[in-house]
Amino acid sequence: MTTIEIDVSKVAEDARRVLAANRQKGVSEWNGRAYDFVCPSPRSYPFQWMWDSCFHAIALLSVDPELAKQELRCLLQGAQPDGFLPHMLLWEKKFHAAALREYSIVLADPYYTATTQPPVLARAVWRVYQATKDRDFLLEVLPATMRYFRWLKAYRDPDDDHLIALIQPDESGLDASPKYDRLMNLHNVAAEEMADALRQSMDRLFGAYAPHREDPARLLALDVFNWEDVMVNSIYADGLQCLGGLCREAGYPPAEAAEFERRARRVLSALEEKCWDERTGVFWDLYGYEENRAHVLTFTSLFPLILDSLDRHMVWRLVEEHLLNEREFWLPFPVPSVAGTEPSFDPEYQTRAMWRGPTWVNSNYYLYWGLRAHGYRDVATELAKRTVQMVGTGGMREFFNPYTGTAYGAVDFGWTALVLDLIHAEGWLP
Ligand code: GLC
Repeated sequence: MTTIEIDVSKVAEDARRVLAANRQKGVSEWNGRAYDFVCPSPRSYPFQWMWDSCFHAIALLSVDPELAKQELRCLLQGAQPDGFLPHMLLWEKKFHAAALREYSIVLADPYYTATTQPPVLARAVWRVYQATKDRDFLLEVLPATMRYFRWLKAYRDPDDDHLIALIQPDESGLDASPKYDRLMNLHNVAAEEMADALRQSMDRLFGAYAPHREDPARLLALDVFNWEDVMVNSIYADGLQCLGGLCREAGYPPAEAAEFERRARRVLSALEEKCWDERTGVFWDLYGYEENRAHVLTFTSLFPLILDSLDRHMVWRLVEEHLLNEREFWLPFPVPSVAGTEPSFDPEYQTRAMWRGPTWVNSNYYLYWGLRAHGYRDVATELAKRTVQMVGTGGMREFFNPYTGTAYGAVDFGWTALVLDLIHAEGWLP
């Protein structure tokens, strides 16, 4: 029996408070559309971000399933006729000028960005449907969700190897992860210069893309940033599998369910064949037309653990040799975004650049369920326990020092409320 030296109900209460306090509601100047969603953090991130909203929807299931549905409905207002879903929806015009100053983004329209984010959407729809069995909701959101996954296949897999590619680092949601340093020319940059250098490097990328924006399918062919990311593709494969099940639930033609399930298997096979490294026992991202392996050990390398059908031998090596390795990932507050053994590891956020060492709750949420699916029930419970302790100590912040639990980044951060899902899964609240 796990003992928790923290008041779990207080952590849960704080998570619920943030989910309520971060709600943004109103009518946008964007064609008079009504919006009603949870933003990541009112002060730092007042807009709707795609993977954040999917995580918020999952967390909201522990509060009120109607709000979880609302979150996804609002997000899907950004769905485009060709299937594209933008990474940010900028509902409120009064925040636009600051956003364009502060973030490295390119807009496709005044109200949404030209980039996307990890496809957590299908998993979120799956969770909401499992919790509510609301068939009308399913029939409402499933078509746009399927269209988005078909868009990814059509526009983001030009080499047809079943792995989708990113056009810029923050499409993975892992903006400044050191795995991208080489391609972004950031490998010899001093800590205090990192944020500026990243911005310049993003501007270089945008400059290269500018003449081709009208034809998004060409951007990867320029080969300035063509990145097949193991975390993104694990989330993609998981989503395809969820879509297969959802198509069956919706009573769609069996061939449609089979299409998504077959594609899920192909993505997993491609990960196992192209990204697995039997020597080191981890998965590596691939970059460039030549598909070079990015040998930087981050939690991404463990992410295929979220897939139920992952090869047993690979599961064993990922967990026993790496996740539970106290020098790499099993730090006092696991799982750090970068392994403790990497030269770029920055647990104290000295670079002021994100995803270079601290621990985040969204990745722990995914890995928790992956561990459970593979029979590592005790490890999952221990991960949940330390995650709750970390949030209990540091508060509802954006990310945490993996040694001390010291919190950094945005305050009242939305997806940190995923602790609610872990708390409920463990049965730690009456
Ligand atoms: C940061 C994160 C990104 C997240 C966004 C809003 O840019 O790197 O993953 O979606 O903030 O929370």
